[in-house]
Amino acid sequence: MSKQACRLILALDLPDSPSAFDILEKTSGRLEWVKIGMQMYYKYGAQFVNDVSRMGYKVFLDLKLYDIPNTVASAVKSLSDLPIGMLTLHASGGEEMMGRAVEAARETRPDLTLLAVTVLTSFDAPSLGATGVAANPADQVELLARLALKSGIKGLVCSPLELGRLSKVLPQDTVFVTPGVRPAGADLNEQKRVATPEDAAKAGAGYIVVGRPILKAPNPALAAEEITRQLEAAR
Ligand code: C5P
Repeated sequence: MSKQACRLILALDLPDSPSAFDILEKTSGRLEWVKIGMQMYYKYGAQFVNDVSRMGYKVFLDLKLYDIPNTVASAVKSLSDLPIGMLTLHASGGEEMMGRAVEAARETRPDLTLLAVTVLTSFDAPSLGATGVAANPADQVELLARLALKSGIKGLVCSPLELGRLSKVLPQDTVFVTPGVRPAGADLNEQKRVATPEDAAKAGAGYIVVGRPILKAPNPALAAEEITRQLEAAR
């Protein structure tokens, strides 16, 4: 059986819901997944998630939960009413926090994939050190990734740069979701450490997250289709 192709997730990083619906109408039928982050969720809430889902999209809700275990477990239960397929939380919240989140999802929404965020890519060694973490960022990423899996989490959000190392040392069924992806020749924006869709797929990504190369394309639907074609080709 051939391996399932890496899938595309559109990061819906837009200032307001009319611009989001405009893009989503254009990409309708050509794209399966969208990522809704804090920017849109805090402004429009559950209604927006429901509206996007009703348009036929699968939703990855990127809220990066981090709090005491009981609060995060309760948040997962509250969010379980929403039509979401993936939800993020911080691995640095610890084993108990992640474990309680996994239990809450199991009770309320066993189909929901929880994804752990390890070290934010905005950290470098000095800024991570300033928070009291002496390990170098790559080692800390691996440590937190292992902790997440130990807690029952099955998926990780990681940069293309971490993908190579993690996919070699972690179990084969770990789901890797990777932002920082740019089609060859595309504007990098402020992303520095990028991979092409093809390279990310070959390095083991199950999903790639792409925003501006689609959102700012003259024809977003075509841009999404072209990336999907590259992912299929990398299979
Ligand atoms: O527009 P662009 O393709 O750069 O958007 C990438 C998306 O992935 C954004 O929503 C951004 O917040 C997110 N992201 C990232 N790099 C990380 C983690 C998340 O670009 N390390």
